[in-house]
Amino acid sequence: MAHDNKWSSQTVFILAAVGSAVGLGNVWRFPYLAGQYGGGAFLIPYLIAFVVMATPILILELAIGQRMQRGPIKSLRHMHPAFGGVGLLGVISAFLVVAYYAVVMAWCLLYLLRSFAVAWADDPEGYFFGNVLQISDGVGQLGGFNWPVVAALAVIWLMIYFCIWQGPKSVGKVVLYTVPIPVAVLGVLFVRSVMLPGFWPGWQLYITPVWSAMLSPEVWTAAASQAFLTLSVAFAIMLTYASYKNPDEDIVQSSWITALADMAISLFAGFVVFAVLGYMAWSANTSVAEVTTSGPGLAFVVFPQALSLMPLPGLFSALFFFMLLTLGIDSAFSLVEPAIATILDIKPELKNTQVAGWVCLAAFGVGLLYTTRAGLYFLDIVDHFVVSYNAMLMALGMAILGGWVFGAELLRRYINEVSQWQIGRWWNWSIKWLVPGVLAILLATQLSTDLRTPYEGYPAWALALGWATVVVPVGLGLWMVRGFGAAAGDRKATPE
Ligand code: PFF
Repeated sequence: MAHDNKWSSQTVFILAAVGSAVGLGNVWRFPYLAGQYGGGAFLIPYLIAFVVMATPILILELAIGQRMQRGPIKSLRHMHPAFGGVGLLGVISAFLVVAYYAVVMAWCLLYLLRSFAVAWADDPEGYFFGNVLQISDGVGQLGGFNWPVVAALAVIWLMIYFCIWQGPKSVGKVVLYTVPIPVAVLGVLFVRSVMLPGFWPGWQLYITPVWSAMLSPEVWTAAASQAFLTLSVAFAIMLTYASYKNPDEDIVQSSWITALADMAISLFAGFVVFAVLGYMAWSANTSVAEVTTSGPGLAFVVFPQALSLMPLPGLFSALFFFMLLTLGIDSAFSLVEPAIATILDIKPELKNTQVAGWVCLAAFGVGLLYTTRAGLYFLDIVDHFVVSYNAMLMALGMAILGGWVFGAELLRRYINEVSQWQIGRWWNWSIKWLVPGVLAILLATQLSTDLRTPYEGYPAWALALGWATVVVPVGLGLWMVRGFGAAAGDRKATPE
């Protein structure tokens, strides 16, 4: 049975999709990857992966969700009973991601509360690791809970809950604010950043291609996984959001609007970040390459440092962390939706308010691991495995199902029937050949790297936990396949 949760309009759907796509990934992860992999050299693989792989998958996910009108597991199982497990993989992965995504938002909240005092000004690195994270010496030392982070996490989950408690109805109201506000703040920060001395060398590093770096497969893996992550595809999120649309609504235009908005904001955020890094290098009298640093460091060490050096540091720090929070919240709640839609599919008699409450509480519970003093280590491990493997595997499963089992041409005909803009045969080719081929290569390369060198040198028992976040959902998915004969009433669907 199709569920009856619906968006109030197509515009609201687009806002929600853009809100989901544009998140911490755009402002913190993308610029840091661009810096790490040689600025312009990263941009080119990223743009290619974005256009020829991630966007076709977005179109596919929207088509499946909108056509099937069900949560991820039922939708995929309805297309072919053996593929429900692919949906399950997406649902569990989104849940695993949001459990730590909310913790990163909790750090933002703590920073926001302490912004006006610019408490980190003397030693931003010591402040982040010592004061905010109270980090232990290694992953083996849990060191107990870090109570301010626990409290901030509870507040974040309450906020998330009140955004989604009525499903698309309440989400539709919230995104009217949470999408434009951070973009406006980013605009203010952009203007401020180009007034800083040293911004130009920062930009130069960002946009000058380093052609040799493009030959490294590592750059391509990082670019492809970032393209997937930033568009929120391959985590069953967009599929779930599309299932709240009517079956005859446009797909192609909404996909391109979402993709272009997401890409534009990443590129724009890159200009702000690199201008600020340029300024930092100028202040410290060193090169820009010296001040670019690893993932969590960029948003929570380098930025606070740069902000503390600016005129009106309290105001700009508060604006920055407020922007991160508003950017993150609509992505966070979109990551919770697949689990809620799945539970409501199984038990339609339950209320959305109830199910949302239980899912939020469960994610808060799992997230407590990341609020211990070893939390950052666990976060780093789980993020690595879930993003590198689960998303790629789900995209691979969907591409095989859509492209080969169900039929790319059938899907394309349905998509073109309901859409104003038409997609050409290139889409079939991308879904059937390019996406599965490239994903298989990337997965194999990543697997061989991880088997040869332990990720970041973590001990085997800790990495076993990372592998479990891949093996357990994949195992459960396969176990579902076993029972596919029992998928009562779920016959193979064809688009009429
Ligand atoms: N697309 C969002 C972001 O880039 O922040 C949300 C997101 C989706 C984050 C999937 C992480 C993820 F694995």
